[in-house]
Amino acid sequence: MATLDNVSLYKLWIAAITILPFTQTLSQTENYIVHMDLSVMPGAFSGQHQWYLSTLADVSDRSTARATATTSTASSKLLYSYTHVIDGFSASLTPSELEVLKNSPGYISSIKDLPVKHDTTRSSKFLGLTPQSPAWKVSNHGEGVIIGLVDTGVWPESQSYREHGMPEIPKRWKGECEGGTQFKSSKCNKKLIGARFFNRGLIAKYPNTTISVNSTRDTDGHGTHTSSTAAGNYVEGASYFGYAPGTANGVAPLAHVAMYKAFWDEGAYTTDIIAAIDQAISDGVDILSLSLGLDGIPLSEDPIALATFAAVEKNVFVSTSAGNEGPFYETLHNGIPWVLTVAAGTLDREFNAVLTLGNGISIAGSSLYLGTTYFYEVPIVYMNGCHKMSKLIKLGQKIVVCQVGNDGNDLSDRVENVSEANVTAGVFITGFTDTEEFIQNRFPVVLLNQKDGKTIIDYIKNSNKPQASVEFRKTSLWIKSAPSVTSYSSRGPSASCPVVMKPDIMAPGLTYISCMA
Ligand SMILES: *[C@@H]1O[C@H](CO)[C@@H](O)[C@H](O)[C@H]1NC(C)=O
Ligand SMILES: *[C@@H]1O[C@H](CO)[C@@H](O)[C@H](O)[C@H]1NC(C)=O
Ligand SMILES: *[C@@H]1O[C@H](CO)[C@@H](O)[C@H](O)[C@H]1NC(C)=O
Ligand SMILES: *[C@@H]1O[C@H](CO)[C@@H](O)[C@H](O)[C@H]1NC(C)=O
Repeated sequence: MATLDNVSLYKLWIAAITILPFTQTLSQTENYIVHMDLSVMPGAFSGQHQWYLSTLADVSDRSTARATATTSTASSKLLYSYTHVIDGFSASLTPSELEVLKNSPGYISSIKDLPVKHDTTRSSKFLGLTPQSPAWKVSNHGEGVIIGLVDTGVWPESQSYREHGMPEIPKRWKGECEGGTQFKSSKCNKKLIGARFFNRGLIAKYPNTTISVNSTRDTDGHGTHTSSTAAGNYVEGASYFGYAPGTANGVAPLAHVAMYKAFWDEGAYTTDIIAAIDQAISDGVDILSLSLGLDGIPLSEDPIALATFAAVEKNVFVSTSAGNEGPFYETLHNGIPWVLTVAAGTLDREFNAVLTLGNGISIAGSSLYLGTTYFYEVPIVYMNGCHKMSKLIKLGQKIVVCQVGNDGNDLSDRVENVSEANVTAGVFITGFTDTEEFIQNRFPVVLLNQKDGKTIIDYIKNSNKPQASVEFRKTSLWIKSAPSVTSYSSRGPSASCPVVMKPDIMAPGLTYISCMA
């Protein structure tokens, strides 16, 4: 036998290391949504679920050339059988199993599972919804309507889900209140009438993941926010740490809520989301509210587009968010022509801190600071651009005024430097309008526009002992520039269907506007 020379050994070694990872990926499974032709289903099957199980048992059998595949291995592959959203199912398949499936009777097409991202006390008054307004009269505050949400779950103890004043649950309702981790099925009532959760797709994708709260309980806050905005009951005396005081309620305060949790701290996948939509259609929701969407996928391959089409066919009205990727064009993710796509607008409300200068002049700036409410007669200094950290740290207990340009990055750096310098508060003069991340600061930050900034600088320069008091937690209403589109709201057109103008309408999304705008 000829001995191998070094070059041949090297070639073999290279071949081995390139083949090894390849064979590993071959055995890895992926989730697929599989569209089937029901007309081909043999009459012997009692229903489509049995047919799908049998098809999958056959597939894993043939792809491994073993005759041992049983229905139990098939049922571990099957994630969901869908009834409404498509004729078909989702399953966790190896590449070879998928190839075999493609030749099975009834197979039409398959789509690979995809990860999905999910993107108030004044809104109803601002929208003109008073007890006398036609919209509330005609709809009777949404009485009898069931709103289903596919979201992060719900926090059922929130006052917004009290059943006080709610009508009976409609007889046609077929939904359920599923119990689970930290969520008893007794948590539902006449307001929150349904709670279900979907994570088989997520777990098939990440078999080793632990679902920390395996129930409809909301560990994020998004679903509680969206569902109470849509249909929350009246909550008197609500406020955000003193900001925005008033009565909180949804825009349809007599409507019922059903929550379908498909967004998890651990991730979210289309197989679970369309399973949630499928169930919501079965349960009998009237409206589906989805704060989600896929980007850059043709409508024919977008499981959410397909699922919402089925919902609309069954007389369910579907409302979706435009996305939060603005202000750039073509960032809109729900170009789906058959759903309502809603952009985010501002409310006529502003959260303020009021600065009262030593000369008695008062100036309102933007702030959402939640710490100390009041600083009384503190020395105030103007530090130009606030670039010199060495000077800032020597100031001590003073209010520091900085002139910042219109550049958000510069503002971000200056706020960070001043907050690290241990001064009392920072006042930033800027034309930058996307202020949300700055005013919600652990450090007392006040933002001023150029005109008010000049008033303060003039005062400091002309006073021999400049000082100011600051009061936080102030709320102003009736701000004239509202409504306007928020800068974060995604803009059309949608790449998947540019011929249909989107978004369709705008609704209050930002709960305040800043005085910068
Ligand atoms: C999951 O955990 C098992 C056992 O700890 C390990 O063998 C496997 O590689 C892990 N899988 C993934 C995808 O991390
Ligand atoms: C989550 O709860 C469901 C229903 O109670 C159960 O079937 C499932 O196995 C649970 N999943 C995990 C990861 O604990
Ligand atoms: C000031 O901010 C800059 C970022 O703009 C940062 O690199 C620098 O470390 C900060 N200085 C101090 C002393 O924190
Ligand atoms: C700010 O104050 C904290 C706590 O008093 C202290 O630990 C820190 O070193 C101070 N920072 C500066 C820049 O002086």
